[in-house]
Amino acid sequence: MNPLNHVAIIMDGNGRWGLKNKNSRNAGHKAGLNTVEKIIKETIRNNIKFLTLYAFSTENWKRPKKEINYLFKLLENFLINRIEDLHKQNIKLKIIGVKNFSLRLNKLLNQSEKKTSKNSKLQINLALNYGSKSELIGAFKNINKNKDKISEKSIKKYLQTKDIPDPDILIRTGNTKRLSNFLLWQIAYSEIFFEKKLWPDFKEKDYNKIIKKFKNIKRNYGNI
Ligand code: FPP
Repeated sequence: MNPLNHVAIIMDGNGRWGLKNKNSRNAGHKAGLNTVEKIIKETIRNNIKFLTLYAFSTENWKRPKKEINYLFKLLENFLINRIEDLHKQNIKLKIIGVKNFSLRLNKLLNQSEKKTSKNSKLQINLALNYGSKSELIGAFKNINKNKDKISEKSIKKYLQTKDIPDPDILIRTGNTKRLSNFLLWQIAYSEIFFEKKLWPDFKEKDYNKIIKKFKNIKRNYGNI
């Protein structure tokens, strides 16, 4: 059985779910947050150490202002209301991506990271204003600046995920088969699961089905 340390998720389908069920994309994001809570719980129950969630990409800035503001308000409320409990559960929060939000949100993100930095039960990496290509460009620039040799090791050293093992599993919900500029370097050998359900409809049992499937896959890493 394969060990499972790290699950990464592209939480796609909120907008469609919201339009279909509540005639509002933002209602889909709100419902998506409930799924986030469920999946965090289930990740802990499965004793998985790292969970990376794609919450806002560098490309998501193209969305209408009203939707962007709603998403950040949701995030802000989530941190204000839930960080104490996450901390009590020994969960560490790390942001990957560039923190160029409002002063208020940046401060809240920094405080949340700092407060939970010593926790060890589960590390949640929240990808915010994250794009894999820009992360890689940043790494190459740093290699250049520091006159390092280009190698897998030196590239990893300058990625925002430098201290995080590569994902074993990548899940994308929402019935779309693309990677959307997410962890392109890190998923070189991840097992990828495309899930038809929209993120707000994704349930613990769907997650556990994927975990079970993953555990029985023969991972060859190029060998036979
Ligand atoms: C993609 O669905 C989802 C997002 C861009 C936002 C994800 C946010 C959440 C799950 C809620 C907030 C989370 C936290 C941790 C506070 P989409 O809107 O692209 O869906 P669509 O493909 O149906 O339009």
